[in-house]
Amino acid sequence: MPPKNRLPRPAVTAALVTKRCDTRPRLGLILGSGFGAVARAISVEREFPYRDLPGFPVGTVPGHAGRLLLGDWNGVPVAVLAGRAHYYEGFDLAESTFSTRVLAALGISTLVLTNAAGGINPRFKVGDFMALTDHINLIGTNPLRGPEPEGLNRFVDLTQAYDASLHPHWKAAAKVAGAKCHEGIYIAVSGPSFETPAEIRAFRTLGADAVGMSTVPETIVARQCGLKVAALSCITNAAAGLGGKGQVVSHLEVLELARQREDVATRIVGEFVKRVG
Ligand code: HPA
Repeated sequence: MPPKNRLPRPAVTAALVTKRCDTRPRLGLILGSGFGAVARAISVEREFPYRDLPGFPVGTVPGHAGRLLLGDWNGVPVAVLAGRAHYYEGFDLAESTFSTRVLAALGISTLVLTNAAGGINPRFKVGDFMALTDHINLIGTNPLRGPEPEGLNRFVDLTQAYDASLHPHWKAAAKVAGAKCHEGIYIAVSGPSFETPAEIRAFRTLGADAVGMSTVPETIVARQCGLKVAALSCITNAAAGLGGKGQVVSHLEVLELARQREDVATRIVGEFVKRVG
């Protein structure tokens, strides 16, 4: 017998939220490293620590606070996951993407995902941004593995994982914020170790422009739930082997660059939300 799902039904957790606040979000946001300041830009009606939400994974990475916020941003009702649980912390992908299912159950139609990533494309500079046009899942597993959720199809089509009609809005939003926004393909790895230079050369050959340890599981689940998905990376470092002689890739470097770009990142996402929400 395949294992039973141990998680609650997303609609049950969502009902607990809607009972306690009036915001009915149209758009969801998941904040990665470098996008934490978004949480401060929103007019929050109500916030819920993850530990109060049945089924929510409580992450362990410093700086990933772990709160669901509901409120208004630039006239758009939003639900924001400030803090995400990563596969590398030991959660399985069904656990770490449960919160994405709750966003869908709250009634959003568009999900905006953000992350920090290492730049592989030689045209990318540290501090630039990249709107995802597609992804390569190299995590080694899939969040839909396991029991098929009631009423949903496990064989999800990903030919348009990232909604093409939303891509031009990233460019326009970045222009307003005075930042450079490329388009490209994100390759997801499990981490938590960074890559070897040989792996990065291989990823380039595979067609990847940036590498990171998140986003892809949430995209897959969001598509299963019928959401439109948009995603943005902040290029926080040159990927391994591309940063010149003596390069060391470090989490501290990623966090420091992410912090430096937080205000610009917030402006880009805010403009984007204004346009698509
Ligand atoms: N590799 C993997 N994940 C990352 C990187 C990287 O270079 N930078 C930020 N997240």
